[in-house]
Amino acid sequence: MSGRRGTAKAPDAATSRALLAWFRASRRELPWRRRRDPYRVWVAEVLLQQTRVDQAVPYFERFVARFPTVRSLARAHEAQILKVWEGAGYYARARNLGAAARDLVRRHRGRLPRTVPELEELPGVGPYIARAVASLAFGAPTVALEANGKRVAARWWMERGDVRTPAIARVLERHLTDLLPEDSPGEFNEALMELGETICLPVSPQCHRCPVSMTCRAHAMLDAPGSIPVRSPRRRKPHLRAAVLVVQSADRFLIQRRGPGGLLAGLYEFPGGKIERGESPEAAARRELEEETGLRVPGRIEPIGIVRHSYSHFSVDLHVYHARLPRIRRVRTDHDRRWASRAEIQRLPLPKATVRILHLLRRTGDQRVRRRTMPPNARI
Ligand code: ADE
Repeated sequence: MSGRRGTAKAPDAATSRALLAWFRASRRELPWRRRRDPYRVWVAEVLLQQTRVDQAVPYFERFVARFPTVRSLARAHEAQILKVWEGAGYYARARNLGAAARDLVRRHRGRLPRTVPELEELPGVGPYIARAVASLAFGAPTVALEANGKRVAARWWMERGDVRTPAIARVLERHLTDLLPEDSPGEFNEALMELGETICLPVSPQCHRCPVSMTCRAHAMLDAPGSIPVRSPRRRKPHLRAAVLVVQSADRFLIQRRGPGGLLAGLYEFPGGKIERGESPEAAARRELEEETGLRVPGRIEPIGIVRHSYSHFSVDLHVYHARLPRIRRVRTDHDRRWASRAEIQRLPLPKATVRILHLLRRTGDQRVRRRTMPPNARI
């Protein structure tokens, strides 16, 4: 059913005043709002582009504590930056922050430039981040529109097109530009996102708590304002199977760095890869080890568990095996491949799945110790 109250007034200057008043009175205390220096604004926006606010907070705090300035970030090695980012995912963001910091030192004396075109020249800075930094940190009169803001604007003007297309995003941006208050464009942008994150929620918007529902067309005209924006059905993610072989000799494990392009670039992992059609997980583990490192393990390899992990575009079951060698063997040294202790491994940047494999290994090791030291009828 639709058309519950006929048409509504379109959002206007009163809407933006009401939105700002609401934001000033009830915005969340977030660490990047505490001190508005451009560097902190930039780091926060990079994090928030793919990470929810509640999850982003500890990463932000850790990042700016470890790298408090552009110059400190520019001096860091990529692996140090990735280690601080570990667990946040979308690691290209962290690599780009490092590259952009080095650019800033080289070309801008370690400061963030103030204009959108200059900001957009930095690695990893697209139209949204450039506009967010320009408006929030420097007061530039520009709309910065991300997913939350798009949802709010689509409801305000009852836009039924797909908000992920550039054409519809431009329409919404034009509408919002007319509302942008001259003296506080950054606050307006942030207030719009805040409204989307706390009240104008994706599935069940809390219209009864909304400070601007009186000029929202979707609220006025629809029984279910949450049905806008229109969502296309999600495609199922492909599911992959892979095998990993953890090779151990005394207290050392064979670990290697992923190449510079693609998923999880620059992070460290145990040898392994995709299970081919018709191949057993164990055969895949042995084949991948040999292809990557040149190493063959004679005898039995022990299955220690399956780690299921979900990435943005696919999910994977990792069949994990463990093998012990009586002595350390020579391996190919590309990909910074090395025999490392558990403590050394924990200092390297690791994908979440590798962290889980380490837990699995520890559990297997503990069980083995318990089996050796407990009487046969003891209960564990
Ligand atoms: N999402 C992206 N940027 C944000 C910000 N500055 N505050 C709240 N949510 C956000």
